[in-house]
Amino acid sequence: MCYATVYTDSRQKVTAEFKMISVLFVCLGNICRSPLAEAIFRKKIVELNLQNLIECDSAGTANYHVGHLPDPRTIEVANRHFVPIDHHGQQFSRRDGETFDYLMAMDSSNYRNMVAEMGVKPDSLFLMRYFDPENKGADVPDPYYGGSDGFEEMYQILDRSLDQLVVFLKEKHKLA
Ligand code: 4NP
Repeated sequence: MCYATVYTDSRQKVTAEFKMISVLFVCLGNICRSPLAEAIFRKKIVELNLQNLIECDSAGTANYHVGHLPDPRTIEVANRHFVPIDHHGQQFSRRDGETFDYLMAMDSSNYRNMVAEMGVKPDSLFLMRYFDPENKGADVPDPYYGGSDGFEEMYQILDRSLDQLVVFLKEKHKLA
């Protein structure tokens, strides 16, 4: 729960309590796709001055990279596009599934792993590319075992999908 100082119509200063809208991006290792999604999304949210209303984080369904910084190639593509990135790997848990308002799986395998961890498919669970205007519902390809082209492709997919996620959230929650 967050608290914000706001003014009423009659200019009275009051403290309002509200729950921020929370979004969790999830992939396998939490060093390539989901930390980049988190970073791009946060930059868009700050540019729209929505950072007091929407918060985000990322996680991996596997525990291989818990505590690790993003892959150097992820950091490199983020830097190239002037996206600040600062994350340490963490593993997705059932509790995350209960806590976050929106769960964004990067691919169908992540999606299945999340359903298995939660024991249920909640309404809050989406495939990231459900929001991609170019290839709706496809996987965000895992770039980990490939070359640097895959990292640029990942950036482009996430950038346009996240634009649409922002549109969706603004409409759904009636945000200015
Ligand atoms: P990510 O990519 O799920 O996008 O973070 C991967 C990172 C690491 C591994 C697999 C995928 N790994 O096997 O270590």
